[in-house]
Amino acid sequence: MIIRNIGELVGIVREGVLRKQGAEMAETGILKDAWLAIEDGRIAGFGKMADLPAGSAGSPTDMDAHGGMVMPAFCDSHTHIVYAGSRDGEFLDKINGLSYEEIAARGGGILNSSDLLHGTSEDELYRQSMERVREMMGKGTGTLEIKSGYGLNPADELKMLRVIRRIRESVPALVRCTFLGAHAIGRGYTHEGYVQAVVDMMPQAAEYADFVDVFCDEGFFTPEDTDRILKAGAACGLRPKIHANELAVSGGVQAGVQHGALSVDHLERTTDAEIESLRGSATMPTMLPGSSFFLGIPFGRAKEFIGAGLGVALASDYNPGSSPSGDMRFVMALGCIRMRLTPVQALNAVTLNSAYAMGVSDITGSVTPGKRADLILTRPGWTLTKLAYLYQTPFIRQVFLKGESLRQD
Ligand code: NIG
Ligand code: FE
Repeated sequence: MIIRNIGELVGIVREGVLRKQGAEMAETGILKDAWLAIEDGRIAGFGKMADLPAGSAGSPTDMDAHGGMVMPAFCDSHTHIVYAGSRDGEFLDKINGLSYEEIAARGGGILNSSDLLHGTSEDELYRQSMERVREMMGKGTGTLEIKSGYGLNPADELKMLRVIRRIRESVPALVRCTFLGAHAIGRGYTHEGYVQAVVDMMPQAAEYADFVDVFCDEGFFTPEDTDRILKAGAACGLRPKIHANELAVSGGVQAGVQHGALSVDHLERTTDAEIESLRGSATMPTMLPGSSFFLGIPFGRAKEFIGAGLGVALASDYNPGSSPSGDMRFVMALGCIRMRLTPVQALNAVTLNSAYAMGVSDITGSVTPGKRADLILTRPGWTLTKLAYLYQTPFIRQVFLKGESLRQD
């Protein structure tokens, strides 16, 4: 199939480029008046309309983009979308002035979600979670990571991991799974007892998960806990992705880098020491502007990270407590509006770099021949700048996942 008359084809990246760092963040390949060919779910080629090989236009499956933009589908490398019920009661507490920490200390927060999940059947949890995944795909997300971490005991963590596997098997989006047993101390456990329980869960969790995560932050898990849990993860072949520096400067970035983390996430509160520790590492700093926005906490210092030669990924953190939205276009807009990234830097952050943060930037996250055809076709006249500027105007005409048009129902 060929998409013809593309106004701008953006996100073109050379084969073999797995992430963008520093000055490269400002670069992306853009081709005007283009065509793009899809074959067997993959990008087969692209070029200028003027050079479209004779005889290749006019097949019944061809599509006319009418001047719309084609860009890579969003990659969302940090979500907690498997959860039960709602925490809208806490939203009212928040409006009335309580902080995330105060809500958690009153038994709200993650433990509230854990109680709700405990009382919800596996089928119902799948059904509720799938609604969110469908919403995200409809908004242009082609790859997403989903974490456990509302189970907080062996049986309920496994229930979550099975639901994530079932989602992975039933959607055209690419799904990666992270074991976040260390999200909070489960009910009935001492701190020490729970850290041991997470270590003990690791072999079974590793049958489902690609990654291991720890909420290494004030009031949750220490760098020492993190070290123990990541060692247990490594013994089971799980690479880390870490929650760090959301509530305080936690030492989690350094712990993550030491353990070869694929990403360290949140980073709302960082000092130059964190930037220094990330330099020369394979770890992708990942910022979650949706939670900065919702919690009213600082936005990550993305420009300084980039200025120091680092890459930055942006993800939604979609969860019921700190970021109840999986809209990656809004994440991209916040990256521009509140973090002052340019539209191209923000694009790289929500596509190639977030694919890197899930270990899949060799197969998706850019317009590169051979990659999965995970693409967004916009309505006519859209550009990257408009995406972030007119940040609420509907822009999607069609989402393609593995080359297939997503049915919007
Ligand atoms: O990434 N920070 C820890 N975990 C989530 C919040 C989870 C929740 O409140 O349910 C986050 O912000
Ligand atoms: Fe999170």
